[in-house]
Amino acid sequence: MESNKINLMGSEVVEGFACKPKKLDPNKPIMFYKAIVYICSDERCAKASGGLDRAKELREIVKELGLAKGKNRIKVTRNLCQGACRFRQVAQINSDYPNQKVWLKHTHKFTKDEWREIFLSLANDKKIQKSLIDMKVYE
Ligand code: FES
Repeated sequence: MESNKINLMGSEVVEGFACKPKKLDPNKPIMFYKAIVYICSDERCAKASGGLDRAKELREIVKELGLAKGKNRIKVTRNLCQGACRFRQVAQINSDYPNQKVWLKHTHKFTKDEWREIFLSLANDKKIQKSLIDMKVYE
C-alpha cells in the first residue's frame, strides 16, 4: 500500500521514515528556525545521559509545545564533541534573541519541565539564565 505521509515541509515521505522526502529538491529552502539547540551526543556526554537519546526526547517536548514549525520553531540537533566535556552533558543554543549564544552545562540533570521553560524562553525572546557555562578569551 502506498504511503501518502507528508512532512512538515509539505513533501511526501519515504515509506518507513518520519520525514525523509521522496523527492529531493536542491533549490527548496530549509525550514526556518528561531533557535537551534545543539545537544552533544558524543561519547562522554551521551554516557552522562545514560545512553538516552536526548535529542529525540527534546524534539518531543518541542512538538508538544507547538514549536516544531512556524515563526517560533526550535530546531534540536545532535552534534559531536564540542570540547566542553568537563561540563557534560552540554548543549549550545543560538537564537534570534539579541546576542544569545549560550552554552548549558549538566543538561542530563534537567527535567522535562526545565527544558519546557528553556524552550518557552526561546520562543518568547527571554534570556536563558540556567546552568550557563562561562566563556573567556584566553590570549
Ligand atoms: S563529548 Fe560532549 S563536549 Fe565532549
